[in-house]
Amino acid sequence: MSATGAGLEGIIAAESSICYIDGEAGVLSYQGFDINTLAENATFEEVIYLLWNGKLPTQPQLDELKASLTAHREIPAEVTAFLKANPTGLPMHVLRTAVSMLSLYDPAAADMSPEANKLKAIKLMSQTSTIVTSFHRLRTGKEVVPGDPSLSMAGNFLYTLNGVKPDAVMERVFDIALTLHADHELNASTFAARVTAATLSDIYSTVTSAIGALKGPLHGGANEEVIKLLLQAGNKAKALEMMREMLENKVKIPGFGHRVYKTIDPRAIHLKKLSKQLAESTGQIDLYEASEAVQEAMLTAKGKPLNPNVDFYSASAYYSLGIPVDLFTPIFAVSRMSGWTAHVLEQFHNNRLIRPRADYKGLPVGQPWVGIADRVA
Ligand code: ACO
Repeated sequence: MSATGAGLEGIIAAESSICYIDGEAGVLSYQGFDINTLAENATFEEVIYLLWNGKLPTQPQLDELKASLTAHREIPAEVTAFLKANPTGLPMHVLRTAVSMLSLYDPAAADMSPEANKLKAIKLMSQTSTIVTSFHRLRTGKEVVPGDPSLSMAGNFLYTLNGVKPDAVMERVFDIALTLHADHELNASTFAARVTAATLSDIYSTVTSAIGALKGPLHGGANEEVIKLLLQAGNKAKALEMMREMLENKVKIPGFGHRVYKTIDPRAIHLKKLSKQLAESTGQIDLYEASEAVQEAMLTAKGKPLNPNVDFYSASAYYSLGIPVDLFTPIFAVSRMSGWTAHVLEQFHNNRLIRPRADYKGLPVGQPWVGIADRVA
């Protein structure tokens, strides 16, 4: 931990039963279920249920959740009009504003009852996805694709983005990626959501705060930076050269390092496998090979091992799925909406205002007042 507490490193800021991380051992679990178990067995809808309810759903419970998510996919016409009117907007700016707008058209926006908040969490889960895919269709001059109720969240996302139903492998890969990004304890965006929730503000405001925090390149924005770097490099040798140059100039390599993990991020292990599988099936192996070479070089490049985080291999995996680069971070938001809302509901359930203190380093207190004419520039 830093002496000043900068970055709140190592500080316990909340009690939570949602997510457990052991950064030394590379363990991550949602509600007691190891991420490896979930990545291998669960669907994203089961993970949403688990995060919100603390247990896996029975078949009827899962069916009910799916029906509810499907029933609330449609976004208000005013939000669609906003998406249409801003085709050149950065997708994360558009998403943040559109999610915030949803509150204007929800008559229960200010209702703080647990039932109303649960319903709003369902709407946010489904409608974030619709906002991202509708925006992309509209900005590329295409019609919005109405969702297909028979498809999973993952399948429907890819269908409403591309207008073509994904094959089973693509759907499953994307579904696993959503599971892997669903929650991560008190990361910056979830903490932002909980700070807003702790003032007893509404759930739409909490996730709007979270989206703003996720966007930054030190957090969810890193996946876009990773792919830009790999694409600019184009091949393994150039990628290594660029990496070394960045390190010499003290520039951080996107997709590496983590505040909590001191070993490899367990999510990166799965995403690496998925990225390889997709690269082989699409024949676009160059990016994957460049990623692997950078990962290997980063083990020794700084005199200490630096491991990939969740953003490193998700970048090449999404790229192989044909997803536009500037939608990588919005997709992170589509998935993390499940974790954000779980944490916000938990915060509402047992709330105390989050209000830390600062170590004051300013002028000595009690400065004398100086009239404007006597002030020095
Ligand atoms: N490239 C090069 N060196 C790095 C990197 C990196 N990506 N990450 C950490 N380091 C080095 C630092 O230079 C520092 O070295 P030093 O002790 O010799 O000065 C040491 O590792 C510790 O790094 P800090 O920046 O102090 O670690 P912090 O916990 O504050 O930051 C962070 C974590 C922001 C994730 C950082 O590793 C980083 O900027 N990574 C790149 C951006 C990124 O991938 N973000 C996504 C994180 S995962 C997520 O949010 C979804």
